[in-house]
Amino acid sequence: MTTQPQPPAAGPGPDPGLFTWEFAADPYPAYAWLREHAPVYRTRLPSGVEAWLVTRYADARQALADQRLSKNPVHHDEPAHAKGRTGIPGERKAELMTHLLNIDPPDHTRLRRLVSKAFTPRRVAEFAPRVQELTDRLIDGFAGRGRADLIHDFAFPLPIYAICDMLGVPREDQDDFRDWAAMMIRHGRGPRGGVARSVKKMRGYLADLIHRKRQALPVTPDPGEDLISGLIRAFDHGEHLTENEAAAMAFILLFAGFETTVNLIGNGTYALLTHPAQRARLQASLARHERDLLATGVEELLRYDGPVELATWRFATRPVTIGGQHIAPGDPVLVVLAAADRDPERFADPDALDLSRRDNQHLGYGHGIHYCLGAPLARLEGQTALATLLTRLPDLRLAADPADLRWRGGLIMRGLRTLPVEFTPQP
Ligand code: HEM
Repeated sequence: MTTQPQPPAAGPGPDPGLFTWEFAADPYPAYAWLREHAPVYRTRLPSGVEAWLVTRYADARQALADQRLSKNPVHHDEPAHAKGRTGIPGERKAELMTHLLNIDPPDHTRLRRLVSKAFTPRRVAEFAPRVQELTDRLIDGFAGRGRADLIHDFAFPLPIYAICDMLGVPREDQDDFRDWAAMMIRHGRGPRGGVARSVKKMRGYLADLIHRKRQALPVTPDPGEDLISGLIRAFDHGEHLTENEAAAMAFILLFAGFETTVNLIGNGTYALLTHPAQRARLQASLARHERDLLATGVEELLRYDGPVELATWRFATRPVTIGGQHIAPGDPVLVVLAAADRDPERFADPDALDLSRRDNQHLGYGHGIHYCLGAPLARLEGQTALATLLTRLPDLRLAADPADLRWRGGLIMRGLRTLPVEFTPQP
């Protein structure tokens, strides 16, 4: 964490301090500068699109809950030169338009209520033994080697297998998902071809699986307790999800729940390995079979260096004032969660990692009607992954200079490309 604050150029325009490699490694000094000097700042993104960045906690919370800011890209007043460059793969394709992160009430209210009936905290809690089993199996795969790349060997496969299992994707097909997901992460910010193909394959597979399960429903009274069967069964005032909506929903659960959780585990482990006193406290508490510090710790890791750097796009439908700044209809707004969660007006000593932080209403899962639906699953995976790693590999340490680690340069997501570690090999 060495980058000096770079005063961004007066916007709009390319910002020397934003969206560079140095910024990707440590965006926090630039965010501190913005919070103090230009808390609602119009900038030109690397894609050429101009957007407002909201960096103070109070403004961010207000913006996330403001329903004059729509999630639907049809409200984007995109200049011709920037058409289609908002960086969301396939965002304008009709088949993806029905997912939760792209729609507003009343459609959002209806779909969210339906999916909430299937994706319940109870279903997630029942899934805990399976997450533990998956975690142990992945650690077994490298524990004997004494070294690993924790992104490739651990943080990456865990969430994809977990969500596939939860959805009810048969085990023999899960490696296909792993490959499609790898393609999406690898090319997420680059050429679109691979991403579009992977998205298409996932969507096609899920649509087919839903169709088969739906046909089996009348014949099989109990087609299984998986999430897809739950989505098919979900009723609300006599209303069903259509097959297309169920496929879009299954896809968004995968899409929203995958790279985020990879980065919670990756960023979280990295933060623990670079804060030895905090890590020692957590290890001591785990050795006493306590869970309190683990629970507050995972929340703090989300606040301190969470996976979602910026909340997904919002577009003003009417004139809105945020932090005294007038925002015109059609303007895109990006709420910078990573900046808001380090705001000294809200958090005491915000740049310090304190696993026992209590007053910690961070925005890492968003806020308002789009608050992360998968938060209970993310918590379960994050807590299980970190506790098991530290317990099974107690002398886990970084096998690279932090300055040599590469972060994925991107807009929405913040995460490491690799996380080389070493430890005493386990039999
Ligand atoms: C929404 C963060 C894991 C499913 C969101 C939002 C954030 C977020 C910030 C709101 C975006 C916005 O307002 O623009 C995270 C983080 C995760 C995580 C940090 C992991 C640590 C998951 C998982 C799932 C999931 C595991 C599901 C399996 C969703 C869905 C939405 C959402 C469906 C859209 C909700 C709506 O629009 O009503 N997440 N997420 N997330 N997340 Fe997560």
